[in-house]
Amino acid sequence: MSTLDDAISLRRTFAIISHPDAGKTTLTEKLLLFGGAIQLAGAVRARGEQRRTRSDWMAIEKERGISVSASVMTFEHEGLTFNLLDTPGHEDFSEDTYRTLTAVDSAVMVLDAAKGIETQTLKLFEVCRLRDVPIITFVNKVDREGRDTFDLLHEVEKTLALDVCPVTWPIGMGRDLKGVFDLVRDRVILFDPGRGDHIAEIAVDAPLDSPKLDEAVGKAAAAKLREEVELVRGGYPEFDLDSFRAGHLTPVFFGSALKTFGVAELLRGIGRLAPPPLARKSDKRVVEPNEAKVSGFVFKVQANMDPNHRDRIAFFRICSGRFKRGMKVKHVRSGKLMALVNPVFFLARDRELAEEAFPGDIMGIPNHGQLRIGDTLSETEDLNFLGIPTFAPEVLRRVRLDDPMKAKQLKKALEDLAEEGVSQVFKPIDGSTWIVGVVGALQFDVLTTRIESEYNIKAGFEEAPFVTARWVACDEEAEMKRFMDANKSNMAEDRDGGIVYLARNTWQMNRAQQDFEKVRFTATREQH
Ligand code: G4P
Repeated sequence: MSTLDDAISLRRTFAIISHPDAGKTTLTEKLLLFGGAIQLAGAVRARGEQRRTRSDWMAIEKERGISVSASVMTFEHEGLTFNLLDTPGHEDFSEDTYRTLTAVDSAVMVLDAAKGIETQTLKLFEVCRLRDVPIITFVNKVDREGRDTFDLLHEVEKTLALDVCPVTWPIGMGRDLKGVFDLVRDRVILFDPGRGDHIAEIAVDAPLDSPKLDEAVGKAAAAKLREEVELVRGGYPEFDLDSFRAGHLTPVFFGSALKTFGVAELLRGIGRLAPPPLARKSDKRVVEPNEAKVSGFVFKVQANMDPNHRDRIAFFRICSGRFKRGMKVKHVRSGKLMALVNPVFFLARDRELAEEAFPGDIMGIPNHGQLRIGDTLSETEDLNFLGIPTFAPEVLRRVRLDDPMKAKQLKKALEDLAEEGVSQVFKPIDGSTWIVGVVGALQFDVLTTRIESEYNIKAGFEEAPFVTARWVACDEEAEMKRFMDANKSNMAEDRDGGIVYLARNTWQMNRAQQDFEKVRFTATREQH
């Protein structure tokens, strides 16, 4: 095998999906702890304080001299390299989340043992299903009273229409938690409630039928476990790697992120089961990861990571080839060559080592706005990776500028922030003030705060007369002109000059479509 093949087989690029409060942050910290990224993961968390934000992470990074980026966390464990991509934790679903999930090869779904599938879990799961992303399930918080285990698995099966296959099984729960039984290796991992951040496992070689099991967990718990395991082995399908990788079956692990329990099993499970970087579709052909030439795509842009410089970081997923620092690649959209001299890597242990990168890896590319979400960089061939769309926003508001002298700066702020892909800016052609669209309304609060803190501009958002936006196109120029003339007060341009129709209500939208049959209305816009 070549180095490239080796490197590919040793990589796992994944995300964690969950409903807020299920334990994603805690689990992330513990996974990093196993990767040696944080010595005392617990200390990172400011208890009782408000939910961690991106800047908290960056402050932590500075303080501890380690690389913990909210967006990408790379760590190593037992010879494998894991790239963990963060999906925003707030309840609002955003395009950012969707696109992050386009850059992973698998996902870990965290469920709260007492709550099971919650609304946000379901939404995120559906995004994964669109691409058949394989899902590993982690049932968290088994150190607390939870729901009946069979009941919980039944819910996963039913709600997600997914086969479930337990890999570990809890022995008791809450106050009675004794440990988990590893169904693959036939042994018990004992729970030690006082363990906290210690990551050593107490595994006992106690197969089901051995008296050692009774010694390890007590007679009553052992008897219950034997009964349950019989039901498990009879009632659930055998683990099937192909079915898992096709997105039809989920292996299930149980544990407590808070108590660092069951996390080692999960991590090993990701290593063993989750696929290495996969082939990706482009508009020309399928690109295999072990092709010699480097290619990849931008799935996220973050503006103002350093508020003193108006730089952006484009998050780039490598899809093929072996990347070396300083390499020249073609920016396919503009046709220009770019030398990637100062890419940022997110290696947990040592940034300096990362002079090269492989498929599945994520690099941050600092730039001044050339790189947009969905852009492909390719060493030789003009191809574009597919499946990273812009969605028509679901909520539209008009911008209110409190200080009219700052109109120009506001325009810049709106455009910069729109570049991150979470919001979109439309300029009505009748000259009225900008309309901003987002997928989830919470984004307006985020935007208002960021415009003030990062650009020192006071602005707000107020009701807009529009409810829907659609990109429009027509093969006949005259017909397009007729359409635009007839709908002057509904027309706007996006920041690339794309023509957008803003409808005041569903009736108006339907009417426009009926009256102008040759005009195409689309709810997504591919990035190229
Ligand atoms: P999130 O990122 O998915 O939103 O969840 P997060 O990790 O922040 O966890 C949400 C709450 O659940 C936190 O409590 C956290 O300590 C707790 N938690 C996470 N994993 C476990 C677990 O395995 N067992 C138990 N019992 N609790 C768990 P909090 O009170 O909101 O925050 P804090 O005051 O503890 O920091």
